[in-house]
Amino acid sequence: MRPLQALLLLPLAGALLSGPSAELWADLSAVPWRPVPTTIYRRVQFGSACQCRAACVADPRCQALQVRWLSDGMFTCSLSSHRRGAAEPIKPPADEEVAWFERAGPPTPEEICWPAESGCRPPTDCAELRRAGISDSGVYSVSVSERPVFCDMATDGGGWTLLQRRGGPISNASFAQPLLAYKAGFGQPSGDHWLGLEAAARLGELRPQLLRVDGWQDDELWFAVYGPIVLDAADEYRLTAPWLEGNTTAELVTPSRDTRFYACGSDTYLRSWSCQSAGWWRDPLQFQQGTNLNGVLHLGELVSQWVTPAGTKYQPTRTELKLRDADF
Ligand SMILES: *[C@@H]1O[C@H](CO)[C@@H](O)[C@H](O)[C@H]1NC(C)=O
Ligand SMILES: *[C@@H]1O[C@H](CO)[C@@H](O)[C@H](O)[C@H]1NC(C)=O
Repeated sequence: MRPLQALLLLPLAGALLSGPSAELWADLSAVPWRPVPTTIYRRVQFGSACQCRAACVADPRCQALQVRWLSDGMFTCSLSSHRRGAAEPIKPPADEEVAWFERAGPPTPEEICWPAESGCRPPTDCAELRRAGISDSGVYSVSVSERPVFCDMATDGGGWTLLQRRGGPISNASFAQPLLAYKAGFGQPSGDHWLGLEAAARLGELRPQLLRVDGWQDDELWFAVYGPIVLDAADEYRLTAPWLEGNTTAELVTPSRDTRFYACGSDTYLRSWSCQSAGWWRDPLQFQQGTNLNGVLHLGELVSQWVTPAGTKYQPTRTELKLRDADF
């Protein structure tokens, strides 16, 4: 296993410990050269590479570090008083498990982690990243999802973990998917995708969430925020989502209706229904009516539909659903 991969696979213990301040991780990034041996002023053993990075960041003298994996699961952490600067990169010998870091610019999204009791942990969700000062929208690794997620760090203060994107620049994901895929997620987070009901429910177990729906029709944006939402994994991901604010409302959830999530393969799904249809929370007796922002392509057109209680229908050409802590 390569060192950087190992860094990412460390146990996610202490997942609820709060992280250090943003500055702590702001300028420590992986580099392909080792610190000059004579500049190493401290050598300690730790149970995780992340603790070594934390030790360096907490010490103003530390400008670079080397982490070496030991056979017993421990790590030797060498702190250096100097950056190597721009020198010829050297390749680590093949039999060594080392990684080098310097105060040389921000960490890449994959390098962001927080020290935890026994190891380091990735951020739980986009809201935690945003709170830590990360302000670039993009693809990140977070612990609520086994697959990478897209973080919207711009809309209304950012910190949104995307649940869905339709009609974006990379628009090749099919939404005609069975329930299993809707649970696990599909598509590329940088393009059209569905995060997955399981990850969305895990977010809700951590903290109450708001659901924001953005819909664009001819470049005009309509949005609605619902919450705090309840996404009940034990009841076919039944969604309860009271409307909170926005410049449109939509019948995502109507109390009088059955608002479980239906997709091809659902136990209670009408068995005659074609698997060409897309999953959504909806009235099983009125599949064609009401909101379905996952509506599949029909004759080359998106048939996403957003219906307000007043009966107005929007057919957005692009949509995003996103989740964020209710008390962000
Ligand atoms: C969609 O496009 C991306 C980027 O070009 C590619 O990696 C991915 O495999 C494509 N997915 C499908 C379902 O075609
Ligand atoms: C709805 O609100 C958003 C965000 O404030 C705004 O950008 C958009 O123009 C509004 N849309 C309409 C149709 O008023």
